[in-house]
This record gives sequence, C-alpha cells and structure tokens, in this order.
Amino acid sequence: MSGRRTVPASHIVGKVALVVAATAFECIECGYRTAKWMGFCPQCRRDGGLHEVAGHVGAKVAPAVPTRLSTAAGAVEHHRSVGIAEIDRVLGGGIVPGSAVLVGGEPGVGKSTLLLQLASAVAATGATALVVSAEESARQVAMRAARLELSGDGVSLLAESDVDVVIASAIEVRPDVLIVDSIQTVGTRDVDGSPGGVGQVRESGARLVTLAKERSIAVIIVGHVTKDGSIAGPKILEHMVDVVLYLEGDSSSGLRVLRCLKNRFGPVQQIGLFEMGGDGMTEMVDPSATFVAQRAGDVPGSLLFPAVDGRRPLLVEVQALVSRATTPQPRRSVKGIEAARVHQLLAVLERHAGLSFSDRDVYVNVVGGVRLREPAADLPVALALASSLLDRPALVGAAWGEVGLTGEVRKVPQGDRRTHEVNRLGITRFVSPDDGGPGRIDGALALAGLRP
Ligand code: TYD
Ligand code: MG
Repeated sequence: MSGRRTVPASHIVGKVALVVAATAFECIECGYRTAKWMGFCPQCRRDGGLHEVAGHVGAKVAPAVPTRLSTAAGAVEHHRSVGIAEIDRVLGGGIVPGSAVLVGGEPGVGKSTLLLQLASAVAATGATALVVSAEESARQVAMRAARLELSGDGVSLLAESDVDVVIASAIEVRPDVLIVDSIQTVGTRDVDGSPGGVGQVRESGARLVTLAKERSIAVIIVGHVTKDGSIAGPKILEHMVDVVLYLEGDSSSGLRVLRCLKNRFGPVQQIGLFEMGGDGMTEMVDPSATFVAQRAGDVPGSLLFPAVDGRRPLLVEVQALVSRATTPQPRRSVKGIEAARVHQLLAVLERHAGLSFSDRDVYVNVVGGVRLREPAADLPVALALASSLLDRPALVGAAWGEVGLTGEVRKVPQGDRRTHEVNRLGITRFVSPDDGGPGRIDGALALAGLRP
C-alpha cells in the first residue's frame, strides 16, 4: 500500500454521494480491524500492532440475499456428547457439529492426551474422529493410545503439517470430529513464513473454521500458549472460533482444570476437573471430597474455601505460612490467588485486627494448583494468615466472604451453594457473612478462635 491513510472512493446512493474509506488497519497480534490508525491495538494492547491493509469498505461486489430470521430453520444447534462427562459439561452439553473449538494450554499440560482420549470416547458413542498430529508421528500417537488402553475403533490418525492436505483429507474421510494438534505446527503454502508465525496461524485457523462450517465437522484446534505469550497462537484465533477452552494445571500436581472462556452455544465459565496420572486424564467425580481427604486436618495456617467456579462448588484448601523474616525485605510468595489481594489482606489484618506481618515472611498457596478468582476467598486467606501467625489451628474448618479495606466482611454470591457444599462434606463449623455472620474481620477472627 501507499503511504496514504485513506483513499476516498465514492458511489451514489439515491442522490447522495458517500465517501468511504477504502483502507483499514489490522493488528498483527490479534487480527483486530479498525478504520482509524492508533499507536496500539485497542483489543490486545500491543504497541504498534496496527498495520495498514487493503480495506473493502464500499468495494463493488454483488449483494448477498439475507435469510429471514423467522424462517432460518435448521439454525438450532444440537450438542452431541463427546463421551466424557466433564468435557460435555464444559462445552455446555456436548460438541456442536460444524463448530470450531480452540483448546489452549501450556506445552505439556496434557492437551494431546486429553484430546486423544476424547477421540476414542467420541468414537465409542458411534461417531468418527480424525486425529491430525503435526507434532508426533502416527506411530507415536498410536503408541500413546495403546499405553492409555484406548480403543482405536472409529478413530483415524494422520501425521500431516500442510493444512490444505489436512482439509482435503477431512473432506474425503468426513469425520464427525476433527482434531488438529497443533495450530502452531501446521501451515499453508499460500502464505509466506514458517508454521507458528502470525500469518500462518491466522490463515490455517481461518481455513479450518471454514471447513467446520462448510462440512458440518466439529473441528477442535489445539494451540500452545506460554505464560509470557511469546508463542503466537490462541489469542489470534479466539475471535474466529465458536468455543474457547483452556486447559490449566500446575506442574507440581496432577490437577487439571478445563475452563470455558467463550461459548456461542452455551454458558461460559464452566469448568471440568481432571487428574493427570500414569493412565492419562481421569475425570474427578467428586473433587471436593478428594481435596478434603488430602487435607492434613486441623493444623495452623489451613482453611477450606468453598469456591464456586462456573456453577459448580469446589471445596479447596487455602494454606498460609508465616515465619520470621530472614532478610530486611520480608518475602511475599503467593500461588493460586492474586498477590495484590494478599497484600491488601495483610494491611487490613494489621490495621483492623492488630496482627503485624511486617517482620515476617509470608507464603500463601492454594492446594492442588487451583487458581481462585473470587473475592470470596478473602476471608479464608485472612484466617489462614492469622492462624499461621498465631501458630494456632482455626476453630472452624471453612470460611468465605469478601474483606473490604475498612475491615468489613461482605456478603458474596452463592452463599447457599457454599453452605450446602461445606455441609455435604461434613464440615459443621465455618464462618460466613450470611445469616448474622460477622460483619467485621475482628468478629470473624473471634469466631475462628484467632484473636491475638
Ligand atoms: P501432552 O498431552 O503431550 O501435553 P500437551 O499436548 O499439552 O503438550 O502431555 C505431556 C505430559 O503429560 C508429559 O510430560 C507426560 C505426561 N503424561 C502423563 O502424566 N500421563 C499420561 O498418561 C500421558 C500420556 C502423559
Ligand atoms: Mg501435545
């Protein structure tokens, strides 16, 4: 393109001449399009991400005939079970034919393992699956399937990295479910650059999405992500696909959380829980019971928290360790919860409960590699901190509630669900802001037997 930012093109509508811009700017990172240039991308915030591309505003093309909303029958999607209940739940009841699903996650978290299990399970429901691996040979994939004792009936394998060959094969084989592992290792000859680059990832992704729509194949695209986002991938594809799932886990534990971030056919924020072991990914039928059973018991610095992630309650253990600081600058090490939240709780405990952590190292951890995102986790974290500082177990097993800066304990959503989950697991003593619970942090500490 030339250096001009706008190219006026005019056409006549009635007697009014419209001048439209024929230039657009697109983000090299996430594909966001805008008519106006900015120094950064308003969607993904990448500095200098916007680059000029030929726009199509006002281009002379033949018009398409819209369908009437009231007669667009057949538009009703039906979910089909993939044969693994935890994945069906996350997908909102199963996978929709003709949909594109992105499964992101860090390398080694278990994406290939889970999707191979999905291929075998979906085939057991009577559907067919085609697994395309561009990272491993067909022999390697088959060996993994044998090790996991998966039935191969109804599952075909293809080791291929040319996305156009993949698409041609899928059109030929006509599987119900196509799995492409991974988007960073496939590419098309029509685009310059090696697989994994922004252009290749975007174009391959777009072609696979088109395949899904045109052939009514459910296409599952695997994408690697790294913490620092240094690998191009899932972010660019998120807006193209119908469903975005992320598989999360912690290398130190076997827990894996499959999280839904976008779903055009169902609710988001659903989670599925798995345990990664020597025999692949096992569904956790009652994760709360597993976490409670693994807990050491009434020890200082430990409390249970009934999280409500998605629609599902999950009882997790929050741990704190407070020890005498070994350096002039005390350590603050936090895992599984936002560090800023813990700093705030330390300040509130100091100001409103007379507990000082200024010469202490503080470690906070959520057991099992679970990540907590709810403010409701404030109270159990605060009580665990106080319990470790005082070296006394709390008199209550569980807690929930948001702790404000003035020391107030606020109500949080889903109190009934949390109470039910705590009771279900036999925990009779807990502190919550519901039904005449403590209004302030010092009251909560008193109920937990943690007043200094
Ligand atoms: P993988 O599914 O290849 O991860 P991804 O596709 O997300 O990169 O899983 C890789 C890790 O999982 C590897 O370190 C070995 C481990 N693993 C198990 O713990 N149990 C198993 O049954 C299998 C197949 C792998
Ligand atoms: Mg893999």
